[in-house]
Amino acid sequence: MEADLDRILFHETTILRRLGELAAQISNDYRDLELTVIAVLNGSLIFMADLLRRIPLPLKLDCLSVASYHGKTETSGEVIFKQVALPDVMDRHILILDDILDSGHTLAAIRDKLETAKPRSIRICVLLSKKKRRARHVDADYIGFEIEDEFVVGYGLDFMEQYRNLPYIGVLRKELIGEPAGYR
Ligand code: IMP
Ligand code: MG
Repeated sequence: MEADLDRILFHETTILRRLGELAAQISNDYRDLELTVIAVLNGSLIFMADLLRRIPLPLKLDCLSVASYHGKTETSGEVIFKQVALPDVMDRHILILDDILDSGHTLAAIRDKLETAKPRSIRICVLLSKKKRRARHVDADYIGFEIEDEFVVGYGLDFMEQYRNLPYIGVLRKELIGEPAGYR
């Protein structure tokens, strides 16, 4: 899999060190609050597992599964929720976890949907945030790393469901994406 990468962006040790900082910040911010973490599957699985084990607070965990991609690297704009019922979050403080903030479509749709379940508050935590103009405005409250507008894989992030199990994050070679540079 490493041969498919143009370069490695974040090694595992770098990621885990940053997660320690994020976890400390989150633990401090939520120390007296009823926290429910909502992880967005599948991309946030590995990030969630490593982050939550560094947060020594009582919390509840739920997962949401959405689809917004049709196989390639571009978001369709349309976000499909794969489950019928939303988690019971009434009066709870929600922290949404996702792998990456790109166009903003996915997190904006999830935030809007969860708001209908009447939580006390909603915050967003992403491992990666791309520096770009977003199609929809989303403020992430906690960001692991800011990156350029390149397609990355590993540590949960996929390209056509591959590479999620790479323990680090790297930029996928452009030839493999099958689109010219500046594909978006
Ligand atoms: P958005 O709706 O465009 O913000 O995209 C969010 C979703 O697209 C993420 O949860 C990822 O699943 C996927 N995505 C966006 N950029 C990348 C990338 O560079 N690598 C892998 N997946 C990505
Ligand atoms: Mg994906």
